[in-house]
Amino acid sequence: MKEFLWGGATASYQCEGGWNEGGRAESMWDKYLHEENLENGDVASDHYHRFKEDIKMMKEGGHTSYRFSLAWPRIIKNLEGEINQEGIDFYNEMIDTCLENGITPFVTIYHWDLPQYLEELGGWLNRRTCEAYMHYAKVCFDAFGDRVVHWSTFNEPRYCIFSGYLIGNYPPGHRDLQETLTGSYYLMLASAMAVKVFREGGYKGQIGIVHSFAPVYGVDGTVQTRIAMRFADNFLNNWILDTAAMGEIPGDMLGELSKTCDLSMMLPEDLEIIKHNTVDFLGLNYYARAVVKPYETGETTLIVNNSGSKAKGTSQTIIKGWFEQVRPESSRYTEWDTEIFPEGLYEGIRQVWKKYHLPVYITENGIGLYEDVTVDQVDDEERIQFMNMHINAILNAKEEGCDVRGYFAWSPFDLYSWKNGTEKRYGLVAVDYEDNLKRKPKKSYYWFKNVIETKGEAIKRETYGEV
Ligand code: NOJ
Repeated sequence: MKEFLWGGATASYQCEGGWNEGGRAESMWDKYLHEENLENGDVASDHYHRFKEDIKMMKEGGHTSYRFSLAWPRIIKNLEGEINQEGIDFYNEMIDTCLENGITPFVTIYHWDLPQYLEELGGWLNRRTCEAYMHYAKVCFDAFGDRVVHWSTFNEPRYCIFSGYLIGNYPPGHRDLQETLTGSYYLMLASAMAVKVFREGGYKGQIGIVHSFAPVYGVDGTVQTRIAMRFADNFLNNWILDTAAMGEIPGDMLGELSKTCDLSMMLPEDLEIIKHNTVDFLGLNYYARAVVKPYETGETTLIVNNSGSKAKGTSQTIIKGWFEQVRPESSRYTEWDTEIFPEGLYEGIRQVWKKYHLPVYITENGIGLYEDVTVDQVDDEERIQFMNMHINAILNAKEEGCDVRGYFAWSPFDLYSWKNGTEKRYGLVAVDYEDNLKRKPKKSYYWFKNVIETKGEAIKRETYGEV
């Protein structure tokens, strides 16, 4: 059996801090959050200074891999593409620390922290960003490729592009369908361009992409619902997975979009690059499924709960003419309205494996909770139950022959959760922001260690019956 990786996942902006240290350039998140006067990642979990302690804790917690991202603004100084040696040195140390502790680095090249100098020229709406990304990716392969053999081009293209250009709650804070399409396209093109550089450079290892996976369910079996499910699957999953894994942007989706949008940026030579540079594996971040019904009425509406219990029950997704998302009332939900539905992970893995036949890593899974971290040990039994149910789902899918190769808990320690700030905690280790960022392992940390050391034997097993 191939080695199964167990670990935790983070993102540079969410944990590093040190936003103006080590020659790091400004990112679009720094600019946006400073200007809007919102809780930011200036310090975050201070991983920039404490990564050795954090990685040691991962090792002691039994982890065999660490999924983290590189900060583009730490590595490339400016529009001219100049390299910041201090940034390279920092990540060299981080990678070496992982290896010294027997931890396999699982590296994401881009987890949303675009350099502000590129955002000023239009960010993902400007083809120039694809070229700049390609250069940045090559710098990373050259600098770290002797030790890193697991690469992901992007983390969650859908989430960052839709939030930035359709919902408007992430930088640059726009709400525009054409921009959403253009940004999505350039980002996926950039991903294929990086895969091309990787292959042509003969670097060792594998390169994939990480997707915010939401398997689609229908409210019933009618033809109308099946059509709505196809719209939803294109919107939520296929434009990333089909494009990255099969080199094809879904044709029916483009046909629909061409009724109202301009597709002229999609050049034939780009489509060739996309077609011939598909990924080696798929990273799936799984939090919840999407249950949909046919579109009935109203304008496109996307409301995300970034306020926890204060806004519970207010989330909504309607895509005009395509589908509406429904909230199954009998289901369980987190305070931030995420449905808890582990069977969706089992079913989703089976679908992805059947359709793409590529190795899968569960690159994120976890639960955001309110927690009092002033106690000696946080008793996060809810997180333990959540993780148990999801790892069980993975083991079920694996036993049916799906090639799943790893599980990464989001997150190994508490970190800054974008617009949810730091009150939404995901960590296996508590970070006390009020007390010198002190680290304290939660109950789940010890539970996960036992799961890893028993190679999953400690998971309470459950099957789902006929699906
Ligand atoms: C998705 C993202 O990759 C990450 O940045 C985010 O904080 C977590 N999931 C939790 O929502």
